[in-house]
Amino acid sequence: MELKGKIAVITGGAGGIGLATAQLFLEQGAAGVAVVDFSQEYLNTGQRQLSDSRVIWIQADVATAAGVQKYMGEVENVYGRLDVLFLNAGVEGVVKPIIDYPEEVFDHVMAVNVKGVWLGMKYGFPLLKKSGGGSVIITSSVAGLGGTPSVSAYVASKHATIGLMRTGALEGAPDQIRVNTIHPSPVDNRMMRSLEDGFAPGQGDAVKENFTKMIPLGRYGTNEDIAQLALFLASDRSSFITGATYVIDGGMKA
Ligand SMILES: NC(=O)c1ccc[n+]([C@@H]2O[C@H](COP(=O)([O-])OP(=O)(O)OC[C@H]3O[C@@H](n4cnc5c(N)ncnc54)[C@H](O)[C@@H]3O)[C@@H](O)[C@H]2O)c1
Repeated sequence: MELKGKIAVITGGAGGIGLATAQLFLEQGAAGVAVVDFSQEYLNTGQRQLSDSRVIWIQADVATAAGVQKYMGEVENVYGRLDVLFLNAGVEGVVKPIIDYPEEVFDHVMAVNVKGVWLGMKYGFPLLKKSGGGSVIITSSVAGLGGTPSVSAYVASKHATIGLMRTGALEGAPDQIRVNTIHPSPVDNRMMRSLEDGFAPGQGDAVKENFTKMIPLGRYGTNEDIAQLALFLASDRSSFITGATYVIDGGMKA
């Protein structure tokens, strides 16, 4: 019961990693979990999979101040406090070289993956401070630690979250707010299916095989693998850890 009594927000909460984390946080005794997602369809599916009276399901766009104020406001009204803020919502954009990459897709990826994280801390810090501190976990990627051709916006956005995390860690420390990033390699879920198909339309399986060869442990990560790392950073077991980057990649970056 590592999260006994704690209140958590998970953005992108109805996606693969988000929903697995919500389930684990509930198993570990969380008193409340707010699942925030842009997609009403994913929220409906999530609600069917995970029916638990401690969960609130919130449709909101993390890329806008109004969306972030909406979900923070509901969390404050329903639970009255916040202990764990998992800023996990993200979009992959498209797979195209820089010279062909559509400007509006670049702007959208940056809005969700970077501004969404910044807004989350901007409106989340006051709530965490009122609770006497807490943990912010930001989902970056191995794409935040090195380049990959044809995903410039995604790579740039995931590098940028490290800068936000480091600044947030320093600004939050006096109030006992910890901020860390996690950096998964490919995870076996919807986002990777979309990227695999983007790299070689109709030949996703071959792309997956190639990516898998780059991972020494010989497999993609699972949503549950990533949820376990989020749990560690959310819990008091990591109470002296802030400002850090956590790679979870089966050895890919080694
Ligand atoms: N899947 C991978 O291989 C992988 C690897 C490294 C990092 N990541 C990161 O993990 C995080 C979670 O992704 P996932 O793998 O679970 O994929 P996913 O696509 O299943 O989940 C992402 C969720 O974010 C939501 N979302 C998108 N835009 C939003 C917005 N504007 N406001 C609110 N919610 C929004 C989506 O609706 C979706 O439910 C992302 O930040 C992603 O970049 C994924």
